[in-house]
Order: sequence, then structure tokens, then C-alpha cells
Amino acid sequence: MPNFTKRHIVELLKETNPENIAELYRQADRVRQEQVGPTVHLRGLIEFSSFCRKDCLYCGLRRSNGRLQRYRMSLEEIFAAAENARLLGFKTVVLQSGEDSHYSLDDFCSLVARIKKELRVAVTLCIGERTREEYARLKEAGADRYLIRFETSDPDLFARMKPDSTYENRFRCLQDLRELGYQVGSGNLVGLPGQSLESLADDILKFRELELDMVGLGPFICNPDTPLYGFANSTLDMVLRMTALTRIVTENAHIPATTATGTLDETGRQQALSCGANVIMPNLTPPEYRKLYQLYPDKICLNEDPGQCKTCVTGMIAGLGRTVALDRGDSLRI
Ligand code: 5AD
Ligand code: SF4
Ligand code: FES
Repeated sequence: MPNFTKRHIVELLKETNPENIAELYRQADRVRQEQVGPTVHLRGLIEFSSFCRKDCLYCGLRRSNGRLQRYRMSLEEIFAAAENARLLGFKTVVLQSGEDSHYSLDDFCSLVARIKKELRVAVTLCIGERTREEYARLKEAGADRYLIRFETSDPDLFARMKPDSTYENRFRCLQDLRELGYQVGSGNLVGLPGQSLESLADDILKFRELELDMVGLGPFICNPDTPLYGFANSTLDMVLRMTALTRIVTENAHIPATTATGTLDETGRQQALSCGANVIMPNLTPPEYRKLYQLYPDKICLNEDPGQCKTCVTGMIAGLGRTVALDRGDSLRI
């Protein structure tokens, strides 16, 4: 029933009867099966730079975090990581970084074009707020998809959490990306300090309103090297409810079982895949860098390499009685 009202969503976020919660998860699993089928799409995640010009309160990459040892992969290293993804059978690579102004637009466009030409994979970018012109150039270079979470639909909370972004610009980015023909992904953080259940319900309604191709939601995990030190992590329960409701409301969006959900609980990703999620994004960052990309503490997979993560998620998917998708996993929206 995609026409959930805000009140109905808030009631389900407040629900305390375990049988009703279990029924919500079963319903989301049915919608997932009907709308996107039994397969799980793999996206290879390459975290290529931990430098960031922004100062989001929750994030370990924030520029004021002097305790983080920063790294930046060269264009050649990024290409090699993408090539490794291709060799491991990935059909999508996701290039993610902090908002790092170091790479010139020309260089980055050449990298995207080279990956497209030589590796023939879908390229997803997750490099933050840029101008429309920059997005246009990257699209011309061959980028297929773009991820940019709005993080919260509550304008006041947004302003507090992202002091050097504006709400308007964030949504301008999403609109530009859509108009330029990208497959667009957004999402939110669940469990931010000061976030209300009403605003979480609004987040879900925004996902539908924006007609997103992909929706990534993850728990807030408190990072002691940020101003939010001491605040509680999100609960897994809240992330799973948000996942289930997002599936029911958006119907056929691609929804990842995120790394942060797997960090919160060892079986978090499996549980998310069982209540709406249909994508998993294993970490393909070279082992020497992955421990430095510390958005939040205790991130999983720090001692594994790309091949091990691929094997791990493939086993996880088989264990759930599902299969790895053989296609690129493009948007299911028309
Ligand atoms: N906990 C969970 N997720 C986080 N992110 C940043 N910091 C944290 C944190 N402390 C997420 C943001 C961003 C994505 C790349 O990482 O939602 O969009
Ligand atoms: Fe930078 Fe993104 Fe972290 Fe904000 S959430 S500090 S923009 S990496
Ligand atoms: Fe990296 Fe499981 S996905 S070890």
C-alpha cells in the first residue's frame, strides 16, 4: 500500500507489539519480492579520498577532525580498484569520497570516461554537492548514477547537522541530477540526535515524492571524534522499520542493506535484506586505505580485501535463499 499517510507511518514507527512489527517486515518482504524479485544487486564501493571540505557534525571525515589520518588515491589507483571490481564480476562501481576539491573536473571526467570505455561497468558517483555544470560534465563523461543523501528532511535539524550546506542546495543537487538524466539515489540517517519520528516519516514521504531510483538509509553511529560524542547510536530496530516502510512506500526503488547497518549488528545486513533491501555494496577499497575511511567507528570489513568481501556477501545472499543478480541493476522506474 504505497499510499501510507504520515500518521500511519508514525504509528508504525511507534508500534510496540512484536507481532505487528513482524507483520510489517513480512509485508515489506512481499513487496520486495513482487516489485524487484529475488535477486540482490552488488555494487563495488571504492572510497577513494577521505579529505572533506565540509564539517557535518556526525561524520568522522569532517574537516575539523584532526585525529583522522587522511588519504587520497591517485587516478591510477582508482582505476586499478575499478578494474579489480570488474575482474571480481561487479557490474557497478561506486566512487565515493568526502567533498575533496583536489581532483580537477577534467581529470575526474577522464577517469570516468576511461572506466566506462575500458571496463564497461555502470559508474555511480557519490562525491557530494557540486554545481549543475559539474554534474553535466560528469554525465557527459559517462557517469550513470549519483548518490547524495539528503540526510534529514527536517530543515532545522539539517541546518544544525550540516552547518556549511543549505537545505535548498542539497535538494537543488537532487533536482539537477534528475534533470540531467542520472539515475538518482538519496537517503537519510536514522537516529540523529534531535530527530523526531515525524521527521522520519517525512523522510519516507520525500523518498516517494522525489521518485528516487535508489534509497540508502543507515543508522547514525556515534563517532567519538565529532561534536556528537556521547550521543546514542540508532537502534537496529528503527533502521529495519525504516527499511520496511521505505520498501512499501517506494515500491520498486533499489534499497541497499548498508555497511552501517552491518556495523550496528553482525546480522544487520541479512535482516535488512529480509525486510525490503535488495542491494549490497561490498567494500572494494584497497586494504591499506579502508581503515582510514572512518565515517564512524568499528566499521566492518577493515581486515578483509575486496575478494573476501565479495565471497562473504555472495555467501550471505545464498544463505538467505536469494541469488546475485546477473544484470547491471539499473533503475526499475520508467
Ligand atoms: N554514522 C552513520 N553514517 C554516517 N555517515 C556519515 N557519518 C556517519 C555516522 N556517524 C553517512 C552519511 C553520508 C554517508 C556517506 O555516510 O549519511 O551520506
Ligand atoms: Fe564530508 Fe560527507 Fe562527511 Fe559531510 S557527511 S563531512 S560532506 S564526507
Ligand atoms: Fe566484507 Fe563480509 S562484506 S567481510
